[in-house]
Amino acid sequence: MSVVDDVVSVRLDDEKNALIILDQTLLPGETKYLTLTTQQQIWDAIYRLQVRGAPAIGIAAAYGVYLAAKESSATEWTALHAEFTEARKFLASARPTAVNLFWALDRMQRCLDDCEGQPVDRCKAALLAEAHAIREEDEQVCKTIGENALALLRPGMGLLTHCNAGTIATAKYGTALAPIYLGQDRGYDFHVFADETRPLLQGARLTAWELHQAGVDVTLLCDDMCSIVMKNGWVDACLVGCDRVAANGDTANKIGTSTLSIVARRYGVPFYVCAPTSTIDMNCTSGNDIQIELRQGSEISTLWYKTPKAPAGIKAYNPAFDVTDNEFITAIITEKGVVYPPFERGLAEIMK
Ligand code: MRU
Repeated sequence: MSVVDDVVSVRLDDEKNALIILDQTLLPGETKYLTLTTQQQIWDAIYRLQVRGAPAIGIAAAYGVYLAAKESSATEWTALHAEFTEARKFLASARPTAVNLFWALDRMQRCLDDCEGQPVDRCKAALLAEAHAIREEDEQVCKTIGENALALLRPGMGLLTHCNAGTIATAKYGTALAPIYLGQDRGYDFHVFADETRPLLQGARLTAWELHQAGVDVTLLCDDMCSIVMKNGWVDACLVGCDRVAANGDTANKIGTSTLSIVARRYGVPFYVCAPTSTIDMNCTSGNDIQIELRQGSEISTLWYKTPKAPAGIKAYNPAFDVTDNEFITAIITEKGVVYPPFERGLAEIMK
């Protein structure tokens, strides 16, 4: 499990007033940590996916607003609160879909709201403790999701995953990859298929890298190969992460997840969404309420190529996420238990 124990996606260096992140855009070629000291650098790192994955983005933003408060020269709560609120709004604008970003920032905001009237040093200490708590809780939550998911799996199974919901997308363990890591330690001998995940290749660059490092039997697929491996009977379950789950179970995750769920239904393969409750947004009634991030077309047409592989000036539609309809989801696996359809009832129960 060295990749899980040794690689830290996001951490705070409080002495240097810096956020340290693993630059995920350089993997698998280079393992490089970036030292971010300004709000703009943190915003850019989130936008560019140098730090990515819904829980990791939330943790980065929590430490980001803590740093904004720490460096504030405000001498009383009201001024600190005003500056903090600006910083919160700024970081919240980096990406729209993963609710963990807003969940973590709102939690930090409530922490400062609760400090009303206290000396600024006490406010800053409270914010630091809250950001650390968000990070530490995520590690425990991911481990519990891993245990809950592993209970649904059997040794020797073939598993298929999309994008990267691994240790680097979270504080530790990941969500969809957590049961794979726990199973690896317990001799489950899973065979994992990793979709490469066009256009930003999180599956090829990150999931394949993580699992290979951990000694898991992993096979890379192009996204359009999911049907053949399922038809061949090589996949016993699909496991994916998520960026936002609506109250009815509709789930936004990396573009291509919806296709996978439909193919899985066609071939009778269980489709599991691994979701920390911080990713469940009861304010969204259905997937129609989830804002889908649109990114530049150049990520499709030119990014990975020495020479352009599409005509100059071609239009490209590049939604970063899609919504998997709840009817294609077998179960949503959370740290509070496994939720089966009808999801409205089950999610309302665990989110009480
Ligand atoms: O655009 P990304 O790479 O941030 O998208 C990430 C995903 O879609 C992950 O599956 C999701 O955030 C879950 S991470 C545990």
